[in-house]
Amino acid sequence: MAKIKTIIDGIEVEVERDSWAIDVARELGIDIPTLCYHPALGPYGACRLCVVEVTKSKWTWLATACDLPIREELSIKTNTPEVIRSRKMAMELIMARAPRAESLFPLAEKLGVTKPRFKCRDDIGNCILCGLCVRMCDQIIGVSAINFANRGHKRIVTTPLHKKADKCIGCNVCVEVCPTGHVKTLDDGSFRHMQTWDADLEMLHCLICDKPYIPAKQFKVISDKLEGIELKRICPVCRRKETVDNLRYAVVEKVS
Ligand code: SF4
Ligand code: FES
Repeated sequence: MAKIKTIIDGIEVEVERDSWAIDVARELGIDIPTLCYHPALGPYGACRLCVVEVTKSKWTWLATACDLPIREELSIKTNTPEVIRSRKMAMELIMARAPRAESLFPLAEKLGVTKPRFKCRDDIGNCILCGLCVRMCDQIIGVSAINFANRGHKRIVTTPLHKKADKCIGCNVCVEVCPTGHVKTLDDGSFRHMQTWDADLEMLHCLICDKPYIPAKQFKVISDKLEGIELKRICPVCRRKETVDNLRYAVVEKVS
């Protein structure tokens, strides 16, 4: 890959052409807020919190850093008054959509937003449409159990036809990545309830300790991916213990 020079906040760096500006900035230790970015996923550009100021020859414009490829002669500033104003506006729009999303309060405060100037919604939970759950489920898990529906202010993340998420395997990745806690799940013994997607998944029990630890559907998806390699039905705790015991036996055998 061809290397090119770029300048971020006055620091000149040599990077691969088409590297994402957000990754380059973060490698330099520059803090850029994000809500829809995840390094494991492709660029998305939905939340607009990562806005930066870009200059090339006599032109200057604002662009989202998470989907800005570094090209020749770009100079980037991450902290100008225009950048700060734009991020604040983006955060106000986000907070107006999910005014009760407490996990966003610290970031909102940092960006100078206490109360959004826009009319607040109170009918769609805490979803800010960052798309992390949808993209993770599709691109990383390969299941596509959920997706966006509707347009404009009625846009939501939901299951196909708003029915029970038949394809959901209960892996909980959507719960992990959701920045607002909108996606809810509950384990009650033998079932995992993906409450937001209306899916109830039967859990498999560990063959050693008998604790329920993984939805049967998730186990099957992983087993199928392993193609011929047998996946033991053992929970992470017992697996760790087994590994430590094996290591201990190996050491004992070696020294005796
Ligand atoms: S449910 Fe959470 S992760 Fe999914 S789009 Fe909404 S805020 Fe993002
Ligand atoms: S992180 Fe760049 S637009 Fe959301």
